Amino acid sequence: MKTAVVKCGGSVIGELSDSFFQSMKEMMKNGYRIVFVHGGGPEINSMLEKLHVKSEFKDGLRVTSKEVLDIAELVLAGSTNRKLVRMLQSHGIEAIGINSSDHRILQADFINQDELGYVGDVTSVHQEFIQNLCEQGVLPVLTPIGLGPNHTILNVNADHAASAIAKALQADRFLMVTDVDGVLHKGELLSTLTEKEANSFIKEGVINGGMIPKVTSALNAFSEYVNHVHIVSGKKSFYNAGKWYGTELTKEKVTV
Ligand SMILES: Nc1ncnc2c1ncn2[C@@H]1O[C@H](COP(=O)(O)OP(=O)(O)OP(=O)(O)O)[C@@H](O)[C@H]1O
Ligand SMILES: [Mg+2]
Repeated sequence: MKTAVVKCGGSVIGELSDSFFQSMKEMMKNGYRIVFVHGGGPEINSMLEKLHVKSEFKDGLRVTSKEVLDIAELVLAGSTNRKLVRMLQSHGIEAIGINSSDHRILQADFINQDELGYVGDVTSVHQEFIQNLCEQGVLPVLTPIGLGPNHTILNVNADHAASAIAKALQADRFLMVTDVDGVLHKGELLSTLTEKEANSFIKEGVINGGMIPKVTSALNAFSEYVNHVHIVSGKKSFYNAGKWYGTELTKEKVTV
């Protein structure tokens, strides 16, 4: 059995297509056990707006006051997670939703409390428990909420959370599913991306906003244990007849 971690962007949860789920099923048929981690950016933003709570981003991370934290957990665990589980079920995939501070699935620590508030980075992953669920044939759907010090909870950027999980599980594949076809350069899809290219695109501003934590998390997971890392769209098929679409990280530049 192979393991794949799929990070599903909050940006695309409302637009996941049937062909996306078809690709998921094809992976499962080809021997992959899948673990989902999701974000919830747009849904959290609209709830913050409804409740007249202001929030801002620093380098793609949401500055999280206690009030923003409560709303982020409410939306992620109470709404986004539920929606994703039901969508998987309606496509015939058995899934269970978990808020990741439960059972220490994700433990986290503050990144910089003064600057970012209740934002954490993952310090440990309860990988045994996640694997047990997979072995039972249930697909875990995890929020990016971590258990912090002194029983606090922390808001973890979903790309960071997924990257930590992919590394802890030594996943064969790590897919970052978003609302664009992959990493774009002047409107064109880059089918491959090296670390060097990624760093210069970030410096030049070609890669910006939410694509920054995504690409850095992708690079962070890419290692001798996690050999295949892709950034793909959830609006279409990302895997069909053995072929992968989107942007794949590579060690060397590949000319196609
Ligand atoms: N070079 C680039 N190529 C493609 N997208 C880019 C690039 N630079 C910036 N982006 C932006 O990054 C966005 C994807 O990141 P974003 O954080 O918005 O979504 P997500 O991570 O899928 O969702 P969430 O953060 O809610 O989990 C794209 O919609 C696009 O606007
Ligand atoms: Mg994002």
